[in-house]
Amino acid sequence: MNKIIGIIAGSLRKESFSKKLAAEVLKMAPEGFEFKLVTLADLQIYNQDFDDEGVVPEEYTEFRDLMNTIEGVIFITPEYNRSVPGVLKNAIDVGSRPYGKSVWNGKPAAVFSNSPGNLAAFGANHHLRQSLVFLNMPVMQQPEVYLARVGEAFDENGQMKEGKTKDLLQHAVTAFVAWFTKTATK
Ligand SMILES: Cc1cc2nc3c(=O)[nH]c(=O)nc-3n(C[C@H](O)[C@H](O)[C@H](O)COP(=O)(O)O)c2cc1C
Repeated sequence: MNKIIGIIAGSLRKESFSKKLAAEVLKMAPEGFEFKLVTLADLQIYNQDFDDEGVVPEEYTEFRDLMNTIEGVIFITPEYNRSVPGVLKNAIDVGSRPYGKSVWNGKPAAVFSNSPGNLAAFGANHHLRQSLVFLNMPVMQQPEVYLARVGEAFDENGQMKEGKTKDLLQHAVTAFVAWFTKTATK
């Protein structure tokens, strides 16, 4: 049975670099693993009343059901105002409820952050890690994955160029798969 890893990009933008990185990561699944893209576009803003009053949006149920089939997660996040974009935080919140039924609990994760600038979304990377502590997700510590100047990693057709960023991404995926296999699942 393949291990199923969810690939979650924290952006809805059509030309999002995070989504392009996610598409590239999908191609890197090794034998024995299935990488599954999880889209966040349909998730409306979390309101606890939905769960408390039993009027759960269908999209929440679909998202939670999908996440319950997934055994690990690679988060690919950009940075908004030195933190995680709302769309990604919202997905985390939706998946974390109803209380006691979190889809995240115990699942090994990695955080790959990126930005067009030099700082590579360091702030978002570490804010996301703070939530993952509470959600009881073991997170790959090393390598830390900061993808700077990500705009330069793609050609005019949106394809990833050979080079440093692609090599770093491959190294990070390989490390995550090894860590997931040897450590996280024990
Ligand atoms: C609301 C907003 C806030 C942003 N804040 C930051 C920031 O704090 N740090 C940063 O490096 N880039 C910031 N940016 C620029 C993003 O890094 C850039 O738009 C990036 O391409 C977004 O990721 P995406 O390509 O996956 O959509 C911000 C962009 C927006 C729209």
